[in-house]
Amino acid sequence: MVTAHRRHPSRSGSPWLLGLLVRLLLWGSPGAWASYLRRSSSCTPIPHHMALCYDIGYSEMRIPNLLEHETMPEVIQQSSSWLPLLARECHPDARIFLCSLFAPICLDRLIYPCRSLCEAVKRSCAPVMACYGYPWPEILNCSKFPADHELCIAAVSTDENSSSRRMPRASCKDCELEEASTAREILENLCANDFAVKIRILRKNTTTTISDFDLDPSKVEVLKHGPLLRTEIPARLQQWLDIDATCVHNIMRGTHAGVFVVSGEVQSDKVVVNKAYAWQKKNRNLHQAVRRWKHHRCPEQAGRKV
Ligand SMILES: *[C@@H]1O[C@H](CO)[C@@H](O)[C@H](O)[C@H]1NC(C)=O
Ligand SMILES: *[C@@H]1O[C@H](CO)[C@@H](O)[C@H](O)[C@H]1NC(C)=O
Ligand SMILES: *[C@@H]1O[C@H](CO)[C@@H](O)[C@H](O)[C@H]1NC(C)=O
Repeated sequence: MVTAHRRHPSRSGSPWLLGLLVRLLLWGSPGAWASYLRRSSSCTPIPHHMALCYDIGYSEMRIPNLLEHETMPEVIQQSSSWLPLLARECHPDARIFLCSLFAPICLDRLIYPCRSLCEAVKRSCAPVMACYGYPWPEILNCSKFPADHELCIAAVSTDENSSSRRMPRASCKDCELEEASTAREILENLCANDFAVKIRILRKNTTTTISDFDLDPSKVEVLKHGPLLRTEIPARLQQWLDIDATCVHNIMRGTHAGVFVVSGEVQSDKVVVNKAYAWQKKNRNLHQAVRRWKHHRCPEQAGRKV
C-alpha cells in the first residue's frame, strides 16, 4: 500500500504529492502490480484550463486516461462536470481521487486509485450528488479499483486514528452570502422568516483539512426568535453550522471569523438558514435595517408590503 503523510491537499502546489511520487518511483519491485500501459497512451502536460487537475502536484498526465477519454477536449469537458461537486468539498480527497482517473500521473505504469480511497470519497460525495439528482456513476464503481495491498493511490487525509474525525455531512442546502440590498428589502426578509439572529462564526482551530465552524456564544444577538426559545437559539444554530457545513463554508469564504445576520425557518428537527448577510462597515443598509428592526412592524399577512 502506498501511504502518504497527512497533509493539506492544497489547491496550489502539493508537497505531499511529491513525497508520494518519490515513494512510487522507488517502489521498483515488479510483479505485485499487474497493470500494463496501453501502447497508445502518451504523456502530455495538464493544460491549465483543465481546472479539475491543473496544479494538482504533477504536470504531466497520460492520455487516454483511466476513464478511456481519448482526446484532451474530451478529458476537459468530462472533468469539468465534476467541478461543482468539488466545490462542495464533500471529501478532502475527492480531487486526488478524480484526478488519478481523469489525469493519471505519467509514470511508467498506470496507477489506479485504491478501492478504499474510492469508497471513502463515495461515502461522502454520493449523498451530495444525490441532492442534485445524480447517482454515483458506474465508471467510478469502486469494485473496479485495486485493493489496498496492491500498488495504488491511497487516501491522503485519513490515517489509522481518523475514524472519529468528522467529515462534513451531506447537505442539500446550497447557500450564498446575500448581497447588501436595501434596508427595506432586508426588513421584509426578516419579517418573512421564522427567526433572525446576528452571530459570529469562528473557524475551529483544527489541523484537519475539513473546515468546522463554531458559534461564538458571547456574540449572539437575537433579532427575532419566532417559534424558537431565545435560550435554545445558540444550540440550534450550532447544529446548523454542523449540518450545513458546505453552506457555511460558502458564507465564510475562507475567512477565520465573521459576523453575520442570518435568517431562516424552523423545520421539525432543525433550523434552515435562508439568507446570510455579512456584517461589515460598508454594508450600511444592513446596519440601518438592524437599527430599524426594533421598531419595525411586519405586515400581518405574508405578501403584503409594509
Ligand atoms: C460494480 O461492479 C460490480 C462488479 O463488476 C457489480 O457487481 C456491482 O453491482 C457494481 N456496483 C454498482 C453500484 O453498480
Ligand atoms: C492511534 O491510536 C492508538 C491507540 O488508540 C495509539 O496507540 C497510536 O499511537 C495512535 N497513532 C497515531 C498516529 O496517533
Ligand atoms: C491553533 O492552535 C495552534 C496550536 O495549538 C496555535 O499555535 C495557533 O496559534 C492556533 N491558531 C489560532 C488561529 O487560534
